[in-house]
Amino acid sequence: MRKVLVISGTPRNGGNSERLCEEFAKGAKEAGNEVELISLRGKEIGFCNACDYCMNHDRVCCVKDDVGEILEKMVAADVLVMASPVYYFAVDAQIKALIDRTYCIWDQPGLMNKEFYYLMTSWREYEWAMDCTLECFRGFAKCLKGSKEMGYICAKGFWDKGEIEGSKFLEQAYEMGKSVQ
Ligand SMILES: Cc1cc2nc3c(=O)[nH]c(=O)nc-3n(C[C@H](O)[C@H](O)[C@H](O)COP(=O)(O)O)c2cc1C
Repeated sequence: MRKVLVISGTPRNGGNSERLCEEFAKGAKEAGNEVELISLRGKEIGFCNACDYCMNHDRVCCVKDDVGEILEKMVAADVLVMASPVYYFAVDAQIKALIDRTYCIWDQPGLMNKEFYYLMTSWREYEWAMDCTLECFRGFAKCLKGSKEMGYICAKGFWDKGEIEGSKFLEQAYEMGKSVQ
């Protein structure tokens, strides 16, 4: 039984990448894992100010918002599933802001040895449409000691929310979740 935290970065309630999150979470739960899905929508997530306050204050960030609680959940998890829509061929601002805010504990044991999955949706179906998005996630994981990439889904070709319904990608996400053990 693993602790799985699924982080949905889309601002769209029921968005395509969030549907991938839900299916992944469903599969992971059915496989007997402890799973929590959180959405960044509506959360207060300030930017990292690069003030280094945290480096001189026991790794506590001086920005007081919803990130503290999210970081606690990330630390507690064995498996981190990060999801984002493709925005300008990168990740969206919500997920990037959260990534930057891990700065206060990026080199601490709490963020080490995590397993990562990435779930991404885009409108364009170019072969390279998700290269940069994937690299954003990979760049984050590369900074954390002992990270292990376990899988990712590139669900291309969806513009409107809900268009992903009935596609093979939801099944893929469910199966990927089910494989977590
Ligand atoms: C601000 C913004 C930027 C976007 N940029 C891109 C892009 O660069 N390439 C692309 O293929 N789709 C782009 N899209 C479309 C989304 O990636 C697509 O609608 C996706 O399915 C949204 O996922 P969601 O429903 O989980 O939010 C953009 C959408 C928005 C709102």
